[in-house]
Amino acid sequence: MRIAIGSDHVAIELKAIISAYVNELGHEVMDYGPKTSERTDYPKYGKLVAEAVVGKQADAGILICGTGVGISISANKVKGIRAVVCSEPYSAQLSKQHNNTNVLAFGARVVGSELAKMIVKAWLEAEFEGGRHGDRIKMISDIEEQHLC
Ligand code: RB5
Repeated sequence: MRIAIGSDHVAIELKAIISAYVNELGHEVMDYGPKTSERTDYPKYGKLVAEAVVGKQADAGILICGTGVGISISANKVKGIRAVVCSEPYSAQLSKQHNNTNVLAFGARVVGSELAKMIVKAWLEAEFEGGRHGDRIKMISDIEEQHLC
């Protein structure tokens, strides 16, 4: 898969570790920045990665900030994005199987690199189960449609 990755300045080291790991797992990584650890703002990168996913330049996205919270909220503002913030692999796996998440987020101040790798692996390997879960995804999309400005 083509995986778009982005972070903020807090998570730049973990972004490099996770990018290498995602490569090791056999995926292509597209780094949407930032390139340096100079202070920046997580919404920029949440938006860039989310747009890459809905624009189909990438098959899925990974976002990392201090907690994973701000950057996942930012990504979720883009229509069609279902971003989840996880600090353990079980929720990551279920978020794909049941919620068909297309962006995974986590926090560099919350999880260490080895736990982050386990979260990423669980998420990348899980598959959406469809069926009744698909009906619920449709209900989520309907909410999005009802609240377009
Ligand atoms: C940056 O200080 C911090 O707010 C950011 O990395 C993230 O945790 C926000 O949700």
